[in-house]
Order: sequence, then structure tokens, then C-alpha cells
Amino acid sequence: MSTLVAYYSRAGQNYGNGGIIDLPRGNTEVLAEAIANELGAPLFKIDTVKPYPADYYATTDQAKRELRENARPAIKEPLPNMEGVDTIVLGYPNWWGTVPMAVKTFLDAVDLSGVTIAPSAPTRVAALVAALATCVAPTLQRA
Ligand SMILES: Cc1cc2nc3c(=O)[nH]c(=O)nc-3n(C[C@H](O)[C@H](O)[C@H](O)COP(=O)(O)O)c2cc1C
Repeated sequence: MSTLVAYYSRAGQNYGNGGIIDLPRGNTEVLAEAIANELGAPLFKIDTVKPYPADYYATTDQAKRELRENARPAIKEPLPNMEGVDTIVLGYPNWWGTVPMAVKTFLDAVDLSGVTIAPSAPTRVAALVAALATCVAPTLQRA
């Protein structure tokens, strides 16, 4: 059995150090790659078919709309091969107190039967737990 590290992360304009900064690579991506290297695990990037705007505030507006609408933005294929995978280390940023909706698209699309999800996010623990509650708990109920 094996572990897969899957993550969503957005490079470009973000909020940091009290203002707008331009990230060449997303924070979650840096974290996910470090975890995958440490574990010797394959890495899967959850990427939307339609990119988010470069502008930070345009992205937060769009993300808020998607959250309200419970949207499932299309993600790029191919999806990872889940054969033999028993653990997913799931990396995501905190977007409006929960996961980016593309993470839900991913969780809907892959076969999670018997899979343990270990969340990993560059955020405070409370936000991480809140995100987990809205995302993984429904998944576990379905299993
Ligand atoms: C659309 C959007 C919504 C966000 N919402 C929150 C939030 O509710 N709370 C928070 O602490 N940070 C929020 N942030 C900040 C991100 O969680 C933070 O910058 C994170 O490190 C970004 O990870 P990434 O670089 O991997 O995409 C938000 C950022 C974006 C782009």
C-alpha cells in the first residue's frame, strides 16, 4: 500500500506580509513537494482547467461565488492512479475558511474507498480543522 501527496495551490498574487505579494510558487506547493520528497511519495497537482485571475481580489471574489454556489470547477486530467493507494496527504490553502472548491472536485472524482486522508495546509490549525469538517467528513459518510 502506498501514499499519494495531492495538492491544490495557486501561484501569483496573494496576501502576505500585510500586503499583496507575488508568489512565484504557491505556499501549498512548496509544502506538498517537501512532504512528497520526505515520504518518497508521488505528487499530484490538482489544477483547474480554467485558471483563476492573476489579480488577488478578483480571485477571492470568484472563490467566494464558487463557495456560495457549491461549484465544482473542472480539473485537469488525467487523475492519479489510485490502485494500491491507502493514504492521501491532501494539501490545500485556506480559501474562505474551507478548501478551494477544486479540491472537492478532486475528492468527488477519485475512488476514496478505504483511503485515509491526512490534511496539510499552510494555515492555522482552527482553519485546517474547519476545512476538514466541510470536506472530508461528507466524504467519510459516503464511504
Ligand atoms: C481565494 C482566496 C481566499 C482566501 N481565504 C482565506 C481565508 O479565509 N483565511 C485565511 O487565513 N487566508 C485566506 N487566504 C489566504 C491563503 O490561504 C494563503 O495565502 C495561502 O498560503 C495560499 O496558499 P497557496 O499559495 O498554496 O495558494 C485566501 C486566499 C485566496 C486566494
